[in-house]
Amino acid sequence: MTNPQRKMLVTSALPYANGPIHLGHLVEYIQTDIWVRFQKMRGHECHYVCADDAHGTPIMLRAEADGVSPQELIDRMYQEHSRDFADFLVGFDNFYTTHSEENRQLSELVYQRLNQAGHISRRTIKQFYDPERGMYLPDRFVKGTCPNCKSDDQYGDNCEVCGATYSPTELIDPKSVVSGATPVEKDSEQLFFKVDDFRDFLQEWLDRGGTQPEIANKQRELFEHELFEWDISRNAPYWGFAIPGEPEKYFYVWLDAPIGYLASFKNLCEQKGLDFDAFLAPESTAELYHFIGKDIARFHTLFWPAELKGAGFRTPTAVWCHGFLTVNGQKMSKSRGTFIMAETYRKHLNAEYLRYYYAAKLDNSIDDIDLSLDDFQARVNSDLVGKLVNIASRCAGFISKNFDGRLGDALPDPQMYEDFVSALQGIADDYENRQYSKAVREIMALADQANQYIDAAKPWVLIKDDSQKHQVQGICTLGLNLFRLLVISLKPVLPLTTEKVESFFGIDPLCWEDAESPLLDHPINRFKPLLTRIEDLQIESMIEDTKELMETASKSGPLAEDPISPEISYDEFAKLDLRVARIAKAEQVEGADKLLRLTLDLDGETRNVFAGVKSAYRPEQLEGRLTVMVANLAPRKMRFGVSEGMVLAAGPGGKDIFVLNPDDGAKPGMRVK
Ligand code: MSP
Ligand code: ZN
Repeated sequence: MTNPQRKMLVTSALPYANGPIHLGHLVEYIQTDIWVRFQKMRGHECHYVCADDAHGTPIMLRAEADGVSPQELIDRMYQEHSRDFADFLVGFDNFYTTHSEENRQLSELVYQRLNQAGHISRRTIKQFYDPERGMYLPDRFVKGTCPNCKSDDQYGDNCEVCGATYSPTELIDPKSVVSGATPVEKDSEQLFFKVDDFRDFLQEWLDRGGTQPEIANKQRELFEHELFEWDISRNAPYWGFAIPGEPEKYFYVWLDAPIGYLASFKNLCEQKGLDFDAFLAPESTAELYHFIGKDIARFHTLFWPAELKGAGFRTPTAVWCHGFLTVNGQKMSKSRGTFIMAETYRKHLNAEYLRYYYAAKLDNSIDDIDLSLDDFQARVNSDLVGKLVNIASRCAGFISKNFDGRLGDALPDPQMYEDFVSALQGIADDYENRQYSKAVREIMALADQANQYIDAAKPWVLIKDDSQKHQVQGICTLGLNLFRLLVISLKPVLPLTTEKVESFFGIDPLCWEDAESPLLDHPINRFKPLLTRIEDLQIESMIEDTKELMETASKSGPLAEDPISPEISYDEFAKLDLRVARIAKAEQVEGADKLLRLTLDLDGETRNVFAGVKSAYRPEQLEGRLTVMVANLAPRKMRFGVSEGMVLAAGPGGKDIFVLNPDDGAKPGMRVK
């Protein structure tokens, strides 16, 4: 049963740091975690790394909408994601972030190597630009009418009604999702990764089974056409890593995200004293596996292997794709309460139940998997509580009460034990091949056999008859040993329950090899219930909570968090004297995080005002510009000096701060009406 030790690096896709983990994401993290736990139980050296995917436009805009800096947003998400993964027993060896020094260095390294080898090209392209917000717009941030079926409100890349794909410039009446403005086309030079240079390598990588056949075929379709070049740069403003030597240009988030796998592993290597370079060298004998959803296959099965190849690293052994989660047969839905967050689930239900259910449904295909809540409840109750735990609870009491808590020194039916052990070999193959649903089916068939054995042996009858009583120790010893084998086989799925079973038996952490010899003549501890049934109410409350959460989420926004102040009369309003002021001078204030000192010129009078606009502007950007100030506000003593008035500013920064343009006819000292 022992295989030579393998070395592996395993990853799950990096979750975006702009939202919480939901049950859909967990399909992947649970699938990967089961595989990793299995490999570790087999005695292999297996490292499982992941990270938050912390860059990109959606994160930048989400932070803005929340009124926090991107750093604050990704820090908070990191805490939440770490908590959720721990709750679901996803045992990363390292959970890191793409916004790390290691990742910056590795991204620059990969880029420089590709560039030096001539795999980067540059050309000018037209892109939509939001003139109000002052930024280039990703496809998903432009909406308009579908050029094909004329449906309204469709995204810039494809139509959800007719399925047509197009470029955002083809939309009829396009609008920026960010500001509502009509975007304009603007030219800019961008950098491209020449994926086509790797055509032969990719063909071979796909042919040798680097991914599932369905996925590989889809990628091969792309080969029929000229393999396009991949745009890896973005214009400022962007939240990400600046491209060395390219002012105002950033790496597209999908360039540094997969490199984040390596950065997380590098960080782990530093902690553990592992040899990063040896693992990643082209001739490395270590294995590299990526688990991902089928939606991000192209990035992982074309661009990523080509990048690694081009940068002189080893390439992935395999990229395994899974399908999408549906709940009760339909897409997860906010209104039906089936868009369930990890945190909400955990308030009501045991994480191992979901792990078990997903295992019972998952195989190595890219088919979608359905979480039918009725089936989930029925299955957990009948398999885990009714079959698995039942074996132990039927046997443990007899041993504790009648045999001094000690297992017998022989099995009455050693063949039965051996049959289970050989079945476990097939189950190990199933895990290895990601055929978890098959493994679970086989395990439950064994659980049925164990229960039938106890039913037939009737220890509860024998115990009452003094001449037969001695047989009960053997029967229950076999029963508990079969239970122990089932627990070994389910340990990758149920790590916490397994720990409880280990302490019930008073044994070291179980590994796969432990199956070979039964536990005999060994003291056991008193049996405590391991798992309880799922009640209807738990599921109902989870759905209710989800509906509520979605309602409050859709109501949130500036008004929900910061309601409008009590009404004032016109006379009160008229007391405000608003004036146009020229920012004569803007200076840093030593020791202040948010403030700039502004010297405001009202054409004849100057005012010293402290304004909280430091995060949005550099002082030199403000000098000479016009703004609106409250000119008759009583002076206020602040920590840094006296402030004589107030500048009107709205929004989180950039163009949103109310700065006037002299071309609009504004003049210092002018009253604002
Ligand atoms: N950040 C990228 C991945 C970068 S990897 C270098 C991303 N993030 S994600 O948060 O949108 O998704 C993370 C993973 O969860 C992806 O593999 C995705 O396929 C998977 N899932 C997200 N929603 C899912 C379901 N509803 N069902 C199953 N898997 C899903 O993509
Ligand atoms: Zn359409």
